[in-house]
Amino acid sequence: MTLSGKFALNWPGDALFGAGRVDELGAVLADRGQGRALIVTDPGLKQAGVLGRAEAALRAGGVAFDAYDQVSPNPTTANVRAAREMWQAGRYDALIALGGGSSIDTAKGAMAEILTGEDAFASFGRDLDTSDVPLPPFYAIPTTSGTGSESSLGAVLKSPERKFVIRGRLLQPRMVIMDPELTLSLPRGMTAATGFDAFCHAIGAYTNTVANPVADELALTAMRLALEHLPVAVEDGGNLEARAGIMLASYLGGVCIGQMGVDGIHGLCTPVESIKSAVHGQVLGTLLPHVLRYNYETQGDRYAQISTRLGLDGDPLQAIFDAATGLAALTGCPDRLGDYGITTGDIPRLTEMALLSQATQRNGRPMPPDNITKLYEAMI
Ligand SMILES: [Fe+2]
Repeated sequence: MTLSGKFALNWPGDALFGAGRVDELGAVLADRGQGRALIVTDPGLKQAGVLGRAEAALRAGGVAFDAYDQVSPNPTTANVRAAREMWQAGRYDALIALGGGSSIDTAKGAMAEILTGEDAFASFGRDLDTSDVPLPPFYAIPTTSGTGSESSLGAVLKSPERKFVIRGRLLQPRMVIMDPELTLSLPRGMTAATGFDAFCHAIGAYTNTVANPVADELALTAMRLALEHLPVAVEDGGNLEARAGIMLASYLGGVCIGQMGVDGIHGLCTPVESIKSAVHGQVLGTLLPHVLRYNYETQGDRYAQISTRLGLDGDPLQAIFDAATGLAALTGCPDRLGDYGITTGDIPRLTEMALLSQATQRNGRPMPPDNITKLYEAMI
């Protein structure tokens, strides 16, 4: 793109980064005059003692709190409703999402319900950028690295019928506290799958149709961080430096989503997750080589630029393909959608859902229905 083209910048709120930062939580709220917080988290973090660490930090700052600790791995509209009802039943000054994308997205869903007065699904397809309702002060403390939900405008939720995305500036956390210590005990598989998600956000943002020279630089940095640190974090989970690198890649990936959105890798992934229970990062890994080859037909220059800018050796198109599929392999993803239980009979429905996705619509190479169907057929 030319620098004289049109683009928009959307920045997330404040961020604190570094080992031990979570222990400052109470002081941060107290400084803002917030004396009572609702924490949204999941049962695993309660059991692992991560919730206890956040609670101790709040206590140290003299901040009272309650916790909704029932978030599911794929957060549901029922989770959202329960968290929102708890918020409305109490008199809280701050909403704190503590967890992976699921807890942060549940809190975003609750924010949407508070702001619109309707259930979360009613926000699907609308931009929640303005509201007359006062905004709850919203904090995010990620405990996984990859979804980018800590810095993005969107949330992925599941109703009984389907997975859907809601988005809007008002859903973006106002403060993110990133403490890589919280990710040290993440299991290997989850480290790989979530970290790969961050890479996919960045490569999707960089190669889609939305031009943004500032976010391009952030996307390149996120990809560089993921390529450098994810293999180390997967191999040696206790490596704090590698954990910090992926945490930063996740955050920057989320910022890129806020500026540019993603691409067809995500656009074709969400429908699969809608009808089969599957790990997001693994489905992305199965889809990525197909979408890259599809996009290379018209967007080769853009992908080659990534290799050049990141200093990858060899033929630029092959180099970024190999680097990306190398990261995908860390997730242990199957090669075919059939391994997730998807059959050819599912393809019309998958295609229909993929077409509705903003990610698909922004893919670097246009994705008309016939091409989406052919892609799914080739992946079965
Ligand atoms: Fe993602």
